[in-house]
Amino acid sequence: MTANLLDIKSPDWALDVIPTILGKRCTGKYSAFVDVGCGSAARVLKAVNEMNIADCVVGIEAHGHTARLAVLNTPDNIAIVNCDVRDFSFSNIEKNSGGPVAIYLYDPFFRLERGEQIYRYAMLLERIAQEVGDATIIFLTYCLADPLDVILRDLGFVRSEKIKPSTSPTLCVWDRRSLHAA
Ligand SMILES: C[S@@+](CC[C@H](N)C(=O)[O-])C[C@H]1O[C@@H](n2cnc3c(N)ncnc32)[C@H](O)[C@@H]1O
Repeated sequence: MTANLLDIKSPDWALDVIPTILGKRCTGKYSAFVDVGCGSAARVLKAVNEMNIADCVVGIEAHGHTARLAVLNTPDNIAIVNCDVRDFSFSNIEKNSGGPVAIYLYDPFFRLERGEQIYRYAMLLERIAQEVGDATIIFLTYCLADPLDVILRDLGFVRSEKIKPSTSPTLCVWDRRSLHAA
């Protein structure tokens, strides 16, 4: 069991901004909030969970030890799934409230070289577009905002927010719905 030495956590400002943005984007509740690569502290999951804006809150974490720490660090109503996101089926998410599914990605593939990262994102986003009806994607990324823009637009997503602090990663919010919120 090796430690995840690159267990990087979302910056503090994102913990305030993400629940606020999600609250603004959806008048009812989200069916689910999913953090792809939730890390050991699962900070974003906990911040969203406290707002009670999603029926279920799920963290996917590929690294076994990190996933176990995430389980210890989160309340029981947050589900931590220890798997590679490539093996996670978004179509199994129950949509009791009928609300959109919000998916958070903070550079989960950062250890891969740039071309491989873009390829992984393209595969993942295509699957999300197929498996999830109404989706909101929140991206926090250091250098992939532009190439991901192209992929997301091609898949029918519309960008609603772009926040680019000078020394922090860029945060972008994308919606794919039959009816886009104002
Ligand atoms: C930059 S950290 C983000 C941590 C957390 N989301 C946060 O915002 O604080 C990325 C996480 O993604 C995980 N990860 C990397 N590849 C993954 C994959 N294919 N499937 C699921 N998790 C993955 C890493 O182990 C790491 O914990």
